Amino acid sequence: MARHAEQLAREDALSRTIALVNDKGGVGKTTLAVNLAGQLAAADFTCLLVDLNRQANVARDLGYRDTPSDDHGRNLFDAITGRSALMPIPGVRQGLDVAPGGTELDDLVAWMVTRMGREGPSANLALANALAPVAPNYDFVVIDSPPEATFLVDLCLYAAHWILIPTRSDGAGLDGMENVAKRFNVAKQYNSGLSLLGAVLFGTGVRSTSIHDEVRAQLESAFGGDSPLFSAFIRFSEKTAQDGRRLGRLAHELEEDLAAQPAWWQELRDGKRGSRISSTAASVAGDYRDLALEVLTVLREAEEAAETMPAAEGAQ
Ligand SMILES: Nc1ncnc2c1ncn2[C@@H]1O[C@H](COP(=O)(O)OP(=O)(O)O)[C@@H](O)[C@H]1O
Ligand SMILES: [Mg+2]
Repeated sequence: MARHAEQLAREDALSRTIALVNDKGGVGKTTLAVNLAGQLAAADFTCLLVDLNRQANVARDLGYRDTPSDDHGRNLFDAITGRSALMPIPGVRQGLDVAPGGTELDDLVAWMVTRMGREGPSANLALANALAPVAPNYDFVVIDSPPEATFLVDLCLYAAHWILIPTRSDGAGLDGMENVAKRFNVAKQYNSGLSLLGAVLFGTGVRSTSIHDEVRAQLESAFGGDSPLFSAFIRFSEKTAQDGRRLGRLAHELEEDLAAQPAWWQELRDGKRGSRISSTAASVAGDYRDLALEVLTVLREAEEAAETMPAAEGAQ
């Protein structure tokens, strides 16, 4: 299929766009999106985080919910529907800009349905077209996708270069993969660079080989071929999850807060009982670091391999 210049330019602009996708809710998409983008930004990579959810838990996790800059998804809706340019909130953290989601995205599905009726599947490129002008300003664009919203997941699959699939070790999210895989294969016809970055086990208790084997087998049957399951996984810690959302702090920030919190004996001596941050935050932050490192390694290897490809492609 002849790929015209516009498509190539768009795909080039979005070549470091990672979407967290799984049809199931509660499998860690949002938590992974914020922590991955947050850690990359803390490591001096500039990042844009896009929240395509009406629940806007990204706002809670990063602590900007209902602040004056939180437009509940208005600008993102306007950018996707071609009414205005995308204008993310700058500097939510150093190096991290955010395009907020929220209830203003409610009409997006209805807009997509009308658009699909008129244009067919190319309507799914609306998010890609909104992101392409700003994406080159960033080292990475991370998209947090909503569950059980087929039209909105398609927007992500047509915009991202990379798909990262979180799944729970109890099987939740495994059956969601089949559905994502089907839509993934359709999206590839319009977004030729779309690739599976891998799957990651989220909120799991043990480093169990049998669980890893089961998830890997599911991935391979859904996507075919050699599908990567990251060896890094995010351990189960309800307390760290609660601390994060309560305080609007990411795992690596809780780790820093932890080091700065007064010793337990000091609180006892002063007769004060503060709300203490769980020491597990440091281990969870370490899990995100391991994952970010693996993600970067896979990306760099794929990019290096792609650099040696054009000659072969051109010869075809
Ligand atoms: N390390 C963790 N262990 C257990 N639960 C976690 C952990 N981190 C986050 N959670 C919780 O898991 C739930 C689902 O996470 P979330 O990222 O919102 O999933 P999704 O975006 O796929 O719906 C949330 O209630 C969140 O607080
Ligand atoms: Mg979510």
